[in-house]
Amino acid sequence: MHRYMRAMSALAFAPRPAAEVLPLPILVAPDARLKLRCRPVGSADEAGLRDLIERMFASMYRAPGIGLAAPQVGVSLRLAIVDLMENDRKAPLVLINPEVVGRSTDLAGREEGCLSLPDQYAEVVRPAVVKVRFTDETGAKREITAEGLLSACLQHEIEHLDGVLFVDHLSALKRNIILRRLAKEKRLKDL
Ligand code: NI
Repeated sequence: MHRYMRAMSALAFAPRPAAEVLPLPILVAPDARLKLRCRPVGSADEAGLRDLIERMFASMYRAPGIGLAAPQVGVSLRLAIVDLMENDRKAPLVLINPEVVGRSTDLAGREEGCLSLPDQYAEVVRPAVVKVRFTDETGAKREITAEGLLSACLQHEIEHLDGVLFVDHLSALKRNIILRRLAKEKRLKDL
């Protein structure tokens, strides 16, 4: 585990200039790779991790989005990134093997979208406050308690790691309307 921690901490000290980082294409639903349960990040993954995280940030900022999970770029690992870009300032958060370890009984509804369901939005009801445990890009174990937009965003991204999309919270009727609309837009784009 020590080697892993050292490799991870290199990330924090020497980011490459953004212009050199190639964004990865983001998968659009329906895609079987979005429905997979991802495996935990382990020491065998360390070599490619820094590059993957940088490219995921490039993809997310370009979209633009505030969260992106590894399966959305076709990588079946328990890894997600978040940046709410509050006040237009970057505050990147890297979540390696994140886990929701506490949920409030209070619920909150919020309009959600997803880079894998472009231009589709719907209200999703989730626990208002969550406690999330994860490893960050320096290899440090962290725990955060989140509410509001960050809470919804963390829950949304962590669910991606189990193949769950926000539309899976909706009624079958609403979900099918969105998926059909998406399929139609995909066909129009491919014409
Ligand atoms: Ni999403």
